[in-house]
Amino acid sequence: MSNHHQHEVVIVGAGGAGLMAALYASRGADTAVISKLYPTRSHTGAAQGGIGAALGNLEKDTVEWHTYDTVKGSDYLGDQDSIEFMAKEAIPVVYELEHMGLPFSRTEDGRIAQRPFGGHMNKETNKPVTRAAYAADRTGHMILQTLYQQCVKNEVNFYDEFQVLDLIVEDGKTAGVVAVDLSTGELHTYHAKSVIFATGGHGRVWEVTSNAYAYTGDGVAIAARKGIPMEDMEFFQFHPTGIKKLGILITEGVRGEGGVLINGEGERLMDKYAPNAKDLASRDVVSRAMYIEAREGRGVNKEKHMYLDVTPEVVNKYAKSDGRTNPDGTPYVTTAEEILTKLPDIIDFCRTYLGIDPVKQPMPVQPTAHYAMGGIPTNVYGEVVIDEKNTIMPGFYAAGEVACVSVHGANRLGTNSLLDIVVFGKQAGKKAAEYSKNNKYPSFPDDAKENTQKQVDHILNSDGSESAADIGKEMKSVMMDHVGVFRTEEGMAKAVEKIRELKERYQKVGVTDKGKVFNTELLNVWELGCLLDSAEITAVSALARKESRGAHAREDYPKRDDKTWLKHTLAWMNDDGIKLGYKDVQLGKYEPKERVY
Ligand code: FUM
Repeated sequence: MSNHHQHEVVIVGAGGAGLMAALYASRGADTAVISKLYPTRSHTGAAQGGIGAALGNLEKDTVEWHTYDTVKGSDYLGDQDSIEFMAKEAIPVVYELEHMGLPFSRTEDGRIAQRPFGGHMNKETNKPVTRAAYAADRTGHMILQTLYQQCVKNEVNFYDEFQVLDLIVEDGKTAGVVAVDLSTGELHTYHAKSVIFATGGHGRVWEVTSNAYAYTGDGVAIAARKGIPMEDMEFFQFHPTGIKKLGILITEGVRGEGGVLINGEGERLMDKYAPNAKDLASRDVVSRAMYIEAREGRGVNKEKHMYLDVTPEVVNKYAKSDGRTNPDGTPYVTTAEEILTKLPDIIDFCRTYLGIDPVKQPMPVQPTAHYAMGGIPTNVYGEVVIDEKNTIMPGFYAAGEVACVSVHGANRLGTNSLLDIVVFGKQAGKKAAEYSKNNKYPSFPDDAKENTQKQVDHILNSDGSESAADIGKEMKSVMMDHVGVFRTEEGMAKAVEKIRELKERYQKVGVTDKGKVFNTELLNVWELGCLLDSAEITAVSALARKESRGAHAREDYPKRDDKTWLKHTLAWMNDDGIKLGYKDVQLGKYEPKERVY
């Protein structure tokens, strides 16, 4: 195989967003997907509880309610036109996945089953609404398998286990990428008319995270190094229920099925923090409540975690007081068998990793770094926009967690990420194919590999006086302590200083493996550089925002300040550090209000 390739559309990343983009692009253009993992190992496979769509299969639901809940969940930072677009597209896209063969769980009469999730409400009953369409607790896994099969059928070209290291830009236009073939260590160039980044998030910046090892902010770092600003990076979501210390996700679907959070004193803690939505308040609210309980000494065994209890006794005990009924209005009663059928993977994880059986015992959980609301700025068609005026960068697209549309604003609602990847993956794929049809190949530089080769040689030739493991550990710890669920000026300033020191030390990290075949040590060092860039942009953006909004909770500025801060952050990375700018939030019919759950 030659090391130079040409495809009209090149997609980087093979998770749900990348595969949906590939499926749509391949209907109109020669399309390739480059992925550092085998596609079905992508992190979408870890998404569990469901995909949000107002199908109304079990009770009344509307696109308008879905839109409103997402705007409110975003703490009014989400762009309302984009949110409405996503909520509308949700219904046809879920049926489209069904028709592709996705094995959704079913209601007794054969419709797609739906369960409640945090922040999604029925506006008539004022109770959580059943909006999350699910396939047991393997919804992301099923989406990934379904889309991969469709892409194979559509003859998408796959470059599996190729790591993209650089984006090629010529005269302001995207011209392709450079990647390393992990099996040989050879660099490959890809000449493209359109490039779509669907590279996922950067949760490995934090110590306790639900994110896969591969979630190292590659897309953020590569784009930022090309002068593209990052939007709203200060907003990073902590999911309330990760397995204690390990961070592995315990789906919000557990609470959707009636599971309850209990503190170390045996009390149901969410009664106090969200008297109406309780355990199904939005994630920022629940994570903060858990932190406060632990800080005030009410963690389990006075430690940092709480219990999540989904045993039938507890679910049935609270069902009545929570007003939880069957669709026909009869009292809701569950059994161990039903819980096992609806949450098989969760039960398996807990049995495997903790030796605990969730149908008989509560699970020890703590908030875990989960999802990047910020990222590469795009419009609803996946087109990357590079300034305050939303100027489009020709030929460059982004979709999924690496992108900031912005539909999640300051806090994402559960189930809206699987929705985001399929809705905006589809739009990006369509738009990239259309652009490719209407444009010639841009010129491709002869020295396209030079920048990448320099990065690789720098690592290979470094004196190795610093250790990647130490730097990674220190980064995770400072980000967890100071740019986590609660933040202060002093803590974030400390974090910025530390990250900058770590970036200096990173220059001296080397590798002991100088080989070419599957040199994962070299790759991990390169990925650490991406994590450090992502951490710096996050911490600097957070330090500047002097208010509390969604996932950005400042103890020194505890209130939301719409007068000054109802705006998106844009952060440019350059040789002198990070330069910040701001752009307007697209408001609509929902006026910012205090959020009550
Ligand atoms: O809790 C979960 O199943 C995660 C879903 C999500 O992040 O949307």
